[in-house]
Amino acid sequence: MPDLKINFCGIEFKNPVFTASGTYGFGREFNALYPISLLGGISCKGTTLAPREGNPPPRIAETPSGILNSVGLQNPGVEHFINEDLPWLLEQKTGIIVNIAGSTVEEYCEMAERLSETAVDIIELNISCPNVKHGGAAFGTSCASVTEITGEVKKHCTKPLMVKLSPNVTSIADIAKSAEAAGADALSLINTIMAMRIDIETRRPILKNNKGGLSGPAVLPVAIRMVNEVANAVNLPIMGMGGISDWRDALEMLLAGASAVQVGTILFNDPLAPIKIIDGLNRYLKSHGIARVSELTGAVQLW
Ligand code: FUM
Repeated sequence: MPDLKINFCGIEFKNPVFTASGTYGFGREFNALYPISLLGGISCKGTTLAPREGNPPPRIAETPSGILNSVGLQNPGVEHFINEDLPWLLEQKTGIIVNIAGSTVEEYCEMAERLSETAVDIIELNISCPNVKHGGAAFGTSCASVTEITGEVKKHCTKPLMVKLSPNVTSIADIAKSAEAAGADALSLINTIMAMRIDIETRRPILKNNKGGLSGPAVLPVAIRMVNEVANAVNLPIMGMGGISDWRDALEMLLAGASAVQVGTILFNDPLAPIKIIDGLNRYLKSHGIARVSELTGAVQLW
């Protein structure tokens, strides 16, 4: 049997397939369909210090090969996560990534400190949410602010710190280098691409927030390109995401330079997608005589 295990930030995960933040809640609904212990792990919905209602609806719009969202970080808050969701998640024996978001550097630091006292595996620093007025992507789109927030949060974090990057920048490789220099342990990319749709009858944007973030199969080639650029620019492990729908997409992401993948928007069509991806990767490794999935990371041969 090929070895699907990966070592990411010094932690062993049973395979490289994770679910992406904001597409899987905290895993409970999916656990009714299959044991979430089959996954490498899950990245929980973006969590803030205080509970948030999110943005007013409509906040989801379908697009060709994707969706546009402006959820606005609806979540029950970090204390609720620690007291109500985490104990259940720990029983499920799956990898646990907590995606944290905030309006100020201090909020991020407080959450990192609080979560460092728990048994979560990785803290994902979400500085790329495009749907909030304060914080979010504002922290992730200049090298100076990425350096500042990564460095500050790192001081309060004893867990591996994985910085989630925005694609809405001129050079994602430069942003990645800033995160690395400031002490990031890993990177995840890409968050959604800023986008907009307009209702031609009302002549109003479909989303109440006017704009939102595009995800789904439409963004896969952008994500593959960015993961490859970042992999060539830094020496950090990468979780690649953006439009992965099947095992072939996941494989492309690994070849581009990712050590693991996060699967997101496809879950709204096919909740079993991550399980099928794990199975497909296993079959590919077997049929190609490859002993370990980790051998695929960065194996693309550029012309
Ligand atoms: O609007 C949202 O909750 C999205 C979060 C994100 O893209 O990180």
